[in-house]
Amino acid sequence: MIGVCVVGAGFWAREMHLPALARIPGVKITGVVATSEESAKSAAAPYGARAFTDLEQAVADPGVDVVDIVAPPDVHLPAVLAAAANGKHAICIKPLARNLEEADAMLAAVEAAGTRLFYAENVPFIPAVQEAKRLVDAGHIGEVFRVKACEGIGAPHSEWFFDPERSGGGAMLDMAVHSLEFCRFFAGAPVQGVYADAGTFVWGERTTAEDTAVLTLRFANGVLGQCEDSWSLPGAMDSRFEVFGTAGRILIDNLHRQPLQVVSATGSPVGGAGWSFPLPVPGLLADGHLDMLTHFADCVRTGRPSVSEGRVGRDVLAVVDAAARSLASGRRETVRSNIRTNQGEIS
Ligand SMILES: NC(=O)c1ccc[n+]([C@@H]2O[C@H](COP(=O)([O-])OP(=O)(O)OC[C@H]3O[C@@H](n4cnc5c(N)ncnc54)[C@H](O)[C@@H]3O)[C@@H](O)[C@H]2O)c1
Repeated sequence: MIGVCVVGAGFWAREMHLPALARIPGVKITGVVATSEESAKSAAAPYGARAFTDLEQAVADPGVDVVDIVAPPDVHLPAVLAAAANGKHAICIKPLARNLEEADAMLAAVEAAGTRLFYAENVPFIPAVQEAKRLVDAGHIGEVFRVKACEGIGAPHSEWFFDPERSGGGAMLDMAVHSLEFCRFFAGAPVQGVYADAGTFVWGERTTAEDTAVLTLRFANGVLGQCEDSWSLPGAMDSRFEVFGTAGRILIDNLHRQPLQVVSATGSPVGGAGWSFPLPVPGLLADGHLDMLTHFADCVRTGRPSVSEGRVGRDVLAVVDAAARSLASGRRETVRSNIRTNQGEIS
């Protein structure tokens, strides 16, 4: 049995990770950590797990084999370090960290401890994305030369997103990590250069971070990429992915499982303000979280390599880092891929 302690008891832990983990044979949720005891208890109770407010104490529990981190980005590094120090594996939700320095510190810590770090990015595990990958790999759209992803919401749901000290940045980090991973998944080569433009159009009174970002990517094999990522779709949501090949094109509209989509900030005849269509049900399956966490459990059990090791999250952050430099310089910037460790640089 693999004992998993979940760090975080908010939106994503409750809606996705806890219910998914509970469905995986051979996995036991042993604990839930939150900042308030009440929240930890109410999230832990349905699974018969223990509630904690102290991260170190929770991770040190001998029943814990894996620490699944589903808390805000400022918690990711300390939680991975605590897991490694206690000889436990870690699963870390996107974005892997607030910046490259934190990501490198995580990778160095797990390497020194001989533990593993998995990057919990669900996009490649979405069944429609998996199906598209099978079609592309089978040659149905010819040679891929362009990839595109749009990830947008109306507003983040918790205050910490608006505080770059805690979140690490705005939509270019929070949302673009999904788009970038989609593009990387299909381009078949690392991102070499990125040009970014961004602005704060809707949430300027609440944050200094950008709420809207547009990135153009150039991959090492010449493939072009575009990412449109935002917190600036009032009342709406967007999750669309495209792959263009020399013989065809695939569009995945991830919300298009509901036939009627009406989005309105002020209200519509078929619904109130906001989304008049619910999140796709069952999100657990449709959004790939169950498959992703099942894959990580298999990797822990068998020792096999993962398609989403911590290094993947670091590679995505390296593109966000180049995008931030591009925003400052007004020019296309090169992605720095070397991991910096205490011992020097590794490729
Ligand atoms: N598709 C996705 O993969 C997806 C979707 C939404 C959110 N997320 C990510 O999940 C993470 C959490 O987001 P959320 O929406 O659940 O946030 P949230 O605000 O709803 O919940 C945050 C939770 O973290 C807990 N927390 C905060 N500081 C802590 C600490 N020091 N120790 C232990 N627990 C602490 C809080 O008590 C709370 O339970 C973020 O990194 C976010 O980017 C991923």
